[in-house]
Amino acid sequence: MSARPNVATAPPAKGKPVTLSSLAAKKALGEPIAMVTAYDYPGAQVAEEAGVDVVLVGDSAAMTVLGYPSTVPVSVDEMLMLTAAVRRGLRTPLLVGDLPFGSYEASDEQAIATAQRFVKEAGCDGVKLERGGTSVDRAAAIVGAGIPVMGHVGLTPQTATALGGYRSQGRTAERALEVGRDALALEAAGCFAIVFEAIPTALTDELMPRLEIPVIGIGAGPSTDGQVLVMHDLLGIYDGHAARFVKRYGELRARMVEGVRAYADDVRERRYPGPEHGYTMAPDELERLRGMLD
Ligand code: KIV
Repeated sequence: MSARPNVATAPPAKGKPVTLSSLAAKKALGEPIAMVTAYDYPGAQVAEEAGVDVVLVGDSAAMTVLGYPSTVPVSVDEMLMLTAAVRRGLRTPLLVGDLPFGSYEASDEQAIATAQRFVKEAGCDGVKLERGGTSVDRAAAIVGAGIPVMGHVGLTPQTATALGGYRSQGRTAERALEVGRDALALEAAGCFAIVFEAIPTALTDELMPRLEIPVIGIGAGPSTDGQVLVMHDLLGIYDGHAARFVKRYGELRARMVEGVRAYADDVRERRYPGPEHGYTMAPDELERLRGMLD
């Protein structure tokens, strides 16, 4: 029987699929963990071929592929549709689905029911949720229901308004302590890993020796166990504001515009289609057709 018998089924893994224990082993060995977001089938295939360890279908999809102004409006159904597409293209990396805003905060029951949908309908290996506070109880409840959970502290975009906007967190001793306490509470709740987003490098350095689970950073400095970036930021596909921590490894949007513009020019100048793009018809069949049309 397949290890991942889900509605959205993964194709068979090429190598050994990444597991929670292989991630823990990487941390123990000091081997950096590479995580990236993906939102569709080709994106999943790219992540697979690039050999990353973890793929997150982040609720950043709200902005990068669905065109919402923030991550807040995206629905569970929208996330499930994207996540299932990623599942179909992903063999080896661990697949984590992001629980969207409003889909887990109200009660443990709501959190478990939503997390179960990500596992049953979209084939996720685990789910991610944001913040400490009441999210710690939700994380414990989901873990108790047998679903692996990744935490997320520091800048938590779902509640950016309450944090004073999209800005780095933990720059005062008090707020840094809160971030640290949230991280430790999420670890105690059973999270298998945690994301640190947009916090001072020095704070990460203080927290790392205190945490046993893998820590994945995004704008949290180099001392975390791994890094995550949004695929559409690192490849230059998304044209919205890029945070300070984004490093561009490509300018795909510009290449895509170029390609589509060249196609449109070819159509207008009648350079496309050429004879090589057409289908032929046997001359006798053409003759017969003409007879029929007359
Ligand atoms: O939604 C997302 O893409 C994320 C990552 C940036 C960690 O939460």
